[in-house]
Amino acid sequence: MSESTQLEGRFPPPPELAAEANVKADAYEEAARDRLGFWETQARRLSWEKEWDRVLDWDKPPFAKWFVGGKLNVAYNCLDRHVEAGHGDRVAYHWEGEPGDTRTLTYGELTQEVCRAANALLKLGVQAGDRVAIYMPMIPETVIAMLACARIGAVHMVVFGGFSADALASRITDAGAVLVITSDGGYRRGAPSALKPAVDDAVSRTDSVRNVVVVKRTGQDVEWNEGRDLWWDDVVARQSPEHTPEAFDAEHPLYIMYTSGTTAKPKGILHTTGGYLTQVSWTHWAVFDLKPDRDVFWTAADVGWVTGHSYIVYGPLSNRATSVMYEGTPDTPHKGRWWDIIQRYKVSILYTAPTTIRTFMKWGEDIPAEYDLSSLRLLGSVGEPINPEAWLWYHKNIGGGRCPIMDTWWQTETGAHMITPLPGVTTLKPGSAQTPIPGVSAKVVDDEGNELGDDSTGLLVLTEPWPSMLRTIWGDDDRYVDTYWSRFGKNVYFAGDGAKKDADGDIWLLGRVDDVMNVSGHRISTTEVESALVSHPTVAEAAVVGASDPTTGQGIVAFVILRGNVTEEQSGEELVQTLRLHVRREIGPIASPRQIMVVQELPKTRSGKIMRRLLRDVAENRELGDVTTLTDSSVMELISEKLPAAPSED
Ligand code: WT7
Repeated sequence: MSESTQLEGRFPPPPELAAEANVKADAYEEAARDRLGFWETQARRLSWEKEWDRVLDWDKPPFAKWFVGGKLNVAYNCLDRHVEAGHGDRVAYHWEGEPGDTRTLTYGELTQEVCRAANALLKLGVQAGDRVAIYMPMIPETVIAMLACARIGAVHMVVFGGFSADALASRITDAGAVLVITSDGGYRRGAPSALKPAVDDAVSRTDSVRNVVVVKRTGQDVEWNEGRDLWWDDVVARQSPEHTPEAFDAEHPLYIMYTSGTTAKPKGILHTTGGYLTQVSWTHWAVFDLKPDRDVFWTAADVGWVTGHSYIVYGPLSNRATSVMYEGTPDTPHKGRWWDIIQRYKVSILYTAPTTIRTFMKWGEDIPAEYDLSSLRLLGSVGEPINPEAWLWYHKNIGGGRCPIMDTWWQTETGAHMITPLPGVTTLKPGSAQTPIPGVSAKVVDDEGNELGDDSTGLLVLTEPWPSMLRTIWGDDDRYVDTYWSRFGKNVYFAGDGAKKDADGDIWLLGRVDDVMNVSGHRISTTEVESALVSHPTVAEAAVVGASDPTTGQGIVAFVILRGNVTEEQSGEELVQTLRLHVRREIGPIASPRQIMVVQELPKTRSGKIMRRLLRDVAENRELGDVTTLTDSSVMELISEKLPAAPSED
């Protein structure tokens, strides 16, 4: 981040917002005085059947237990308690399908639907602790299925609908899921897009799944596996709309969410009950200044990612928010779709990713200008650093110059916001996530773990446990310790991000320092794409880098060496297309390389490590950095010659 960007505008909190803000500056002091006491206060925003005996058990770091001995039910906290308090008629979701069909679900209706689904799961023999895979489009049943699992203590494992059958199969196997909930398909880019075939393929390669429950969404033809497959409407609709929730231990597993690491095998991040809900609920209320009776809240993300789990489902529902949920893409049937949604539902808080904002920038400010966006009062950003240009564009063209932007840094692993401004307190600096929230301790350290002062650049670490932290990697405690808690010892969480502290002590996130790419706010490991490429019969070796991309943040650029038996004619553009399709099939469309370059050799160090740094230079058309550690420095000349004039379109 250049110094000049930091000198651009400062944006103090709007006075009316500051005066009525849910959280004031004293929250920081309160938490600094008594961190655990602060989180206890936030935990009491929820309804517990039994209070905890101990706030935090950190006797065996890095294995944390929060609110030890406490008992609660997540679905009760998200639904029944609001209905009991007389809010059953309040809208929980204004849902809109991509074709324009709509559904409104009140808290009362949602509670009944979740109870029916919970009863159906029990009928199907699903027990507390069992894992349930959910592979769905963005429809209300996805949320209903998640809450039904939470209600009976089953552990949900949502797999983003854009992932391939392979990715689904490996996750089902790793988690040992007994049930899959899916749909015939969903709508994307104006057409139905099938999901059931991928489930059939995935389940045929696994042996833990007993049943597949299928929601009818698109009416597409589906193959039917008698005895295994069941229609959602057949098993759920006939159930009783009543179900008495059972309170579970604060540390009972709530869900697993797979995310890419630095190896090819995705990590099953495990989140538990009491601490997760405490921090997700509090941050949703504090960071978005959520006023349940006035706001219409919209997280424009997919429920299949952690952003959707925490800020479409658990945060908003626990706070009795009215949310918008939208199934499809932002340019279907026209590029003003989002702004039309905001205008019609009078959305007051919008939460989205920088990559989407940059896409809107590309489409031009004339499009949002045609709509009435005056209902908006607060904006959020998540997924990658937001460049100041995109921040300022978002502020001006979407926020009308009046809405503060919360740049929220967090991860699948952290479960909830960690570093972000607070809307009634912080004077905003475009491009910086600024300050750890009250009760969270983040530092910037050098390679040896020494804390750095202001005006320096290093690695981001979290130095105290936090309530919504991951508890482990599913089935792999050793990998949990190795990945996050070994670089600087068992008390320091290594986030994998570079960070800079400016002269005021504000934090600027600088992107990943490991071999993880960030494409459109989604994490993809270079190794995962490399192993997908080498699994193709024509590929001998592959190296993948994330090259900076004006829209998606990073774009995937692959360098491949073909096997000896592939002829010159076979190695053209057609093969590149084949390989791209192969990666889509193996991982999913989001992992599809922007460019694939066929090369004779890869730059390697004497110890055999591929020098991705040099490949990144090539991919970004930069002058090559230091090549002296290469075994053969002429390799880079050969690769540079191969460079196509412009990146090929996906
Ligand atoms: C990685 C986590 C958190 C939900 C979405 C992504 C990057 C996330 C920001 C931000 C700069 C950010 C980091 C982080 N990241 N938010 N506001 N500013 N970088 O979750 O897939 O677990 O990815 O996303 O690199 O480590 P995820």
